[in-house]
Amino acid sequence: MAIHLNGKKVAEELYSKLLLEVSLLPIVPKLAVILVGSDPASQTYVKTKEKKCLSLGLQSETFTYSQDVTESELIEKIKKLNEDKSVHGVLIQLPLPAHINKNRLMEYLSPLKDVDGLTPDNAGRLAQGIPRLIPCTPHGIMALLSFYGIPIEGKRVVVLGRSDIVGKPMAQLMINANATVTVCHSKTKEIKEICQTADILVAAIGKPKWLGPDFVKSSCSVIDVGIHREGETFCGDVDFEEVEKKCHAITPVPGGVGPMTIALLMKNLVLAASLQSKPGRRP
Ligand code: GUN
Repeated sequence: MAIHLNGKKVAEELYSKLLLEVSLLPIVPKLAVILVGSDPASQTYVKTKEKKCLSLGLQSETFTYSQDVTESELIEKIKKLNEDKSVHGVLIQLPLPAHINKNRLMEYLSPLKDVDGLTPDNAGRLAQGIPRLIPCTPHGIMALLSFYGIPIEGKRVVVLGRSDIVGKPMAQLMINANATVTVCHSKTKEIKEICQTADILVAAIGKPKWLGPDFVKSSCSVIDVGIHREGETFCGDVDFEEVEKKCHAITPVPGGVGPMTIALLMKNLVLAASLQSKPGRRP
């Protein structure tokens, strides 16, 4: 049976350190969330983030827009939040409606308030190995692997998915940690054979239970980024029950990557607040 990588437990450990850090700050960091439309999953994620802020003594405010909001309205809001000294972090909940270009919005967001690490500045910094604010999910995965002492240097890592928020930054972090990285996506050929070479396999493809035991070797650590509602419960992109019988280590869903994402968001908010409090720092 595989080791279960318990993100809920590791996140709690991060929170106990963060609580102390927050108590020593001269200000109360505040997160502004921009939520567009009424997708129930997005609404739930935003509520979870608000609650977590509250429990750590951090502030949060959510700005809700209808599905037909224009790109320029959102850009105006972002500009206002950039100028607002009481706001330290800005998160634009994804996904956005098809008529809104996420990356165009990111060009307007202050990199020092970019708690998702999605602005060109923060994405470029990560690519150059000089990261500042790092996307929360891949950063949380690195923290989880580090907690369990899973080695990365010289290992073969396969990332399934090439999104700006998970796949690409995951690959960059793994390269920066001296892994040999392959990124697979919907057009990749021989995907199963590539997965079978992985010492660490990160599944971020958005398809329930897509990855079965025939994709993994017995020494593989499997990281499941997916979360899908399945009646009263949830499942990931990995067929957990079957894969855990074969692999070395695996993240459960729920309780694996999800709690780590929220914990790293809170850490990013505190980091963003401290970056903004340093005088003379370039924006
Ligand atoms: N939607 C799902 N996960 C995330 C996340 O980590 N950040 C944002 N902004 N939107 C999301």
